[in-house]
Amino acid sequence: MRPEEALRQTQGPGRPDPTTQRVAETLLSTAVGGPRERKRRARFHTLRVAAVRALTDSSIEVTFAIPEQVRGEFDYLAGQHVALRTELDGAEVRRSYSLCRAVDAGGGGDGPRTISVAIKRDEGGRFSTWAQTELRPGDEIDVMSPQGSFTSALAELDGAHVAGIAAGSGITPLMALAATVLGRSETSRFTLVYTNRSTTDVMFLEDLADLKDRYPARVALHHVLSREQRAAPLLSGRIDEDRLRRILDALVLPETIDEWFLCGPFELVQLCRDTLADIGVDPAHVRYELFTTGEDGRAEPAAGRPVVVRDDEPVRAIEFTLDGQSATVRSPVAANESILNAALRVRSDVPFACAGGVCGTCRARLVEGAVSMTENYALEPDELDRGYVLTCQSHPTTDRVVVDYDV
Ligand SMILES: Cc1cc2nc3c(=O)[nH]c(=O)nc-3n(C[C@H](O)[C@H](O)[C@H](O)COP(=O)(O)OP(=O)(O)OC[C@H]3O[C@@H](n4cnc5c(N)ncnc54)[C@H](O)[C@@H]3O)c2cc1C
Ligand code: FES
Repeated sequence: MRPEEALRQTQGPGRPDPTTQRVAETLLSTAVGGPRERKRRARFHTLRVAAVRALTDSSIEVTFAIPEQVRGEFDYLAGQHVALRTELDGAEVRRSYSLCRAVDAGGGGDGPRTISVAIKRDEGGRFSTWAQTELRPGDEIDVMSPQGSFTSALAELDGAHVAGIAAGSGITPLMALAATVLGRSETSRFTLVYTNRSTTDVMFLEDLADLKDRYPARVALHHVLSREQRAAPLLSGRIDEDRLRRILDALVLPETIDEWFLCGPFELVQLCRDTLADIGVDPAHVRYELFTTGEDGRAEPAAGRPVVVRDDEPVRAIEFTLDGQSATVRSPVAANESILNAALRVRSDVPFACAGGVCGTCRARLVEGAVSMTENYALEPDELDRGYVLTCQSHPTTDRVVVDYDV
């Protein structure tokens, strides 16, 4: 089964109803650190690199200093990510990276003084290779204000038990979540299953050990290595369904878990979701984030595809509101372009990062009309119910469509 088919057959974030998304009530749930979604304008700011730290041979942690005047723009929830933007070989490149530090680390009441991301080099990857080899303290780079809903919905952390299952660079948002969950209550617990090929691939190895030392009774940490023998046979080898079930039974104890966070390659996340559903875990308590769709290669963002609007052909009207200002753009029916693509023709600051339905940065609320959404690996069912769409994936199916980026 192709990855996107597997996602289609299950729900949330998964795919929307294939044809239309309509408007519904806005609800905000409470969460660790405030509302689960902190809606703010996705805007780039130029930040200075304060430190670059090697995590493994192929991954680095990059810390940015936040000038006082924009600290409020970088206030974030554990689990959120930022988009980084630079120019490589004359072309703009945007990539998303999860924030890896506890929300309270280095912060004051006015927002964080620093934020940190962890970047793992993807073999042949443009941005991650550039970051690994070129990025140095003192460099400046554009960083978008934090976005994303891979965040806790728990209103109360006292006594809460949160579980994370991560692979490779998928540990990054879980580092922020674990440190925040443990730091904000004296009775919360965090159980982490983290899989890598070998010890040398383990990102944040020492930081995880420090977390365990700091909260010995409240942290359970299980490293699973697929190509290295560990003392416990259960923790040696690839995580397949059988091993996952045994790990859950023996080490995680699903009946004790209040909320789950999954982050890793598509196949592992899908395996975990299916297995958890099969053993009776309510999918509403399972959050997951994908860094890629699992497809080979990476198409450069389709956003910005040139489209010429002629007067003698049928067009659709796309109206959008951004920063309180509305604009209308005409889009040829035959071009079947996305709302994002059309909107970028009249405003260059319309938010997006991956343009592939993964990061959720281009999210807006459909206020009028209907759209067909091609991919959705980012929006959760409740966001779809409330009428949110990914504008990079949404193609109008009515003559007039109105979306609002501000809500
Ligand atoms: C919400 C979110 C959060 C994320 N958080 C993190 C994080 O915390 N840490 C992290 O390391 N990553 C994270 N990512 C992934 C990150 O955004 C990048 O996708 C990743 O770093 C790879 O980017 P790149 O430019 O290096 O690779 P790309 O240039 O995009 O290439 C990706 C892969 O495709 C292959 N490829 C590229 N072009 C072609 C081609 N023409 N034909 C065949 N193959 C090709 C490359 O070899 C590489 O393996 C996150 C992604 C999302 C959406
Ligand atoms: S820009 Fe990433 S989902 Fe649309």
